[in-house]
Amino acid sequence: MLAPSVLSADFAFLQRDIQMLNESDAHWLHIDIMDGVFVPNLSFGLPVCKAIQKYAKKPMDVHLMIVNPDQYLEAFKEAGAASISVHYEACTHLHRSIQRIKSLGCKAGVAINPHTSVQLLRDVLPDLDLVCLMSVNPGFGGQKFIERTFQKTSELKNLILQNHSKALIEIDGGVNANNAKLLIEAGADVLVAGNFVFSSENPKATIADLCQKMAAVRA
Ligand code: DX5
Ligand code: ZN
Repeated sequence: MLAPSVLSADFAFLQRDIQMLNESDAHWLHIDIMDGVFVPNLSFGLPVCKAIQKYAKKPMDVHLMIVNPDQYLEAFKEAGAASISVHYEACTHLHRSIQRIKSLGCKAGVAINPHTSVQLLRDVLPDLDLVCLMSVNPGFGGQKFIERTFQKTSELKNLILQNHSKALIEIDGGVNANNAKLLIEAGADVLVAGNFVFSSENPKATIADLCQKMAAVRA
């Protein structure tokens, strides 16, 4: 599946860009929430998320790059989140955060930074719907893909199988037409793509092309 990141959309034409995503082959809309504390950048928050919800016809995949995410889980559910991912590095009581997300009726995800080992997720894997592997240091769109992610993806895929987990593997950061196929081959299920989609001349065609590359591996 492909989840274009709205972070790279043109915020002055957000409705237009959401409608483009509705008409495209994209499966989910990836929504990046940054607080300027967990990551060195601010993006947008609940009011913008609600505005996206008004037009989005695809599931909103909310990625919380914030400290104290528990405080906002319910609000993001109300703002349209179908899935919510919290960061491993931001949650002291990760198991509780995951249960809270699930009790709200959302898919529960955990995101890990490039320096965090996938092995640290072993004890929560059976409870997870989604693991988001950061393939850049979170905070900004348009960064260079960290190659080590390929190994982490296969390692995580094995861990998921060993633990009888149904978690999907999502790769976030620096995804493009050169690494998409290899990531799916390594075991990824969902690719997030921001800059590569929105900086292209024809984003809808770029989405279709990425989806085709991904589908070819699984076929
Ligand atoms: C990075 C965000 C990503 C970002 C991906 O902190 O979590 O979702 O939007 O963007 P690209 O595809 O531009 O690296
Ligand atoms: Zn993200």
